[in-house]
Amino acid sequence: MLNSRSKSALWRPWTPITQQADSMRIVEAQGNRVRDAGGTWYLDGISGVLNASCGHGHPRLVEAATRQFQQLVHYDPMVSSHDPAETLTARLAEILPGELNETCLLNSGSEATEAALRIALQYWRNLGESRNRVITFEAAYHGSTFLAQQLSGLPFTVSEWTPPFPIDHVSLPASPRAVRTEEGADELIALFARALEAGPPAAAVMVEPLLGLGGCVVLPAGFLARLRRLCDEHGALLILDEVFCGFGRTGRMFGFEHDGITPDIVTMSKGISGGYLPLAAVTVTSPIKESFVREPVAQGLRYGHTTGGHAVASAVANAVLDVMADEKLVENSAAQGATLLDGLRQLEPSPVITDVRGLGLVVAIEADSPESAAAIATASARAGVMMRHERGVVRIAPPLTITTDETAEMLQKIGAAVETAAEARR
Ligand SMILES: Cc1ncc(COP(=O)(O)O)c(C=O)c1O
Repeated sequence: MLNSRSKSALWRPWTPITQQADSMRIVEAQGNRVRDAGGTWYLDGISGVLNASCGHGHPRLVEAATRQFQQLVHYDPMVSSHDPAETLTARLAEILPGELNETCLLNSGSEATEAALRIALQYWRNLGESRNRVITFEAAYHGSTFLAQQLSGLPFTVSEWTPPFPIDHVSLPASPRAVRTEEGADELIALFARALEAGPPAAAVMVEPLLGLGGCVVLPAGFLARLRRLCDEHGALLILDEVFCGFGRTGRMFGFEHDGITPDIVTMSKGISGGYLPLAAVTVTSPIKESFVREPVAQGLRYGHTTGGHAVASAVANAVLDVMADEKLVENSAAQGATLLDGLRQLEPSPVITDVRGLGLVVAIEADSPESAAAIATASARAGVMMRHERGVVRIAPPLTITTDETAEMLQKIGAAVETAAEARR
């Protein structure tokens, strides 16, 4: 047990060395609230690591994990499959559209990105075509492994190493607010068209339905449908990164459903297991999987991890799907998200706010400066709402189980925090 004088041996990720000691310590979480070591309870405005979509300590998820722990913890996925993984992959095939039927189970969102790209690039080789160029958003975030990190052009992720294949980044043509307009949408799609036309044929275009870590940028309505058409015209695969948006976060089961499209490959993590255990998935269409019969070395996927598709994590994911259906969490995400967005938009006249945007239960306040964003997040934590801020953007993404009363409480406390931040600037 650490006492207040012990020096922590924990090296926290994505945190400057000089700020390692500044963290709070969360010791308990129940429902939509978390408690720190000092005994203060907070409304969880960030769902753990943006993954506790069913809230904390949900009895049905705890029970599903306990039952599976007692029956079979895990077994070598190369030697045997197990019921939880078989059931989960069959259920994913049911809820995903079209021919998205074939799923590989992994541990993290970054691994899902890694697998999706290996599959996409190998697919073209299986077909005898030498496509290997990948197009992504500059403000994308697809993970932090060596390869996944290179897909992003965000300044804080920039890698000093050369990627193993050409990656072209598309920058946002305008501010997040302007990009949501009709003109912004036209400019954005024109940039993707140019990226697809320039250079050798692209193997794949990989995008998030909403640019999460890149500033919570809500993409214009219809953008994904237009991008789907562009990819078809150029023969490129469309990979949708649903790691953050999937499983109800945007008010639909998957973010791409807002545009009614079917991607070729979908990556998932976070909400898939409600954050209770590490789990990720990459689902591809049947023709993509079938092409691997022609894979020259192994006739299959030369990729996988010891704990990929862990039996207990998969059992929890099956229970997550049951809880989401029984508690109507996708519907709740849409309804509470709309209330949250409407309420926060009332704050837009504040001098410290430049934009409020969101989709379902992911809502962002863009502040006039990183300092104002930090001031809003700090004041909000003092008032009892946990939020996260990156550069000038404060992100609010509570569990999908949030109630009407809790949404009202959150709005009232965030409103007071914005007022405090504005006063401090005067
Ligand atoms: C859209 C998106 N893709 C991929 C990842 C990487 O997932 P992980 O942190 O589980 O590796 C994240 C993580 O935040 C993400 O938001």
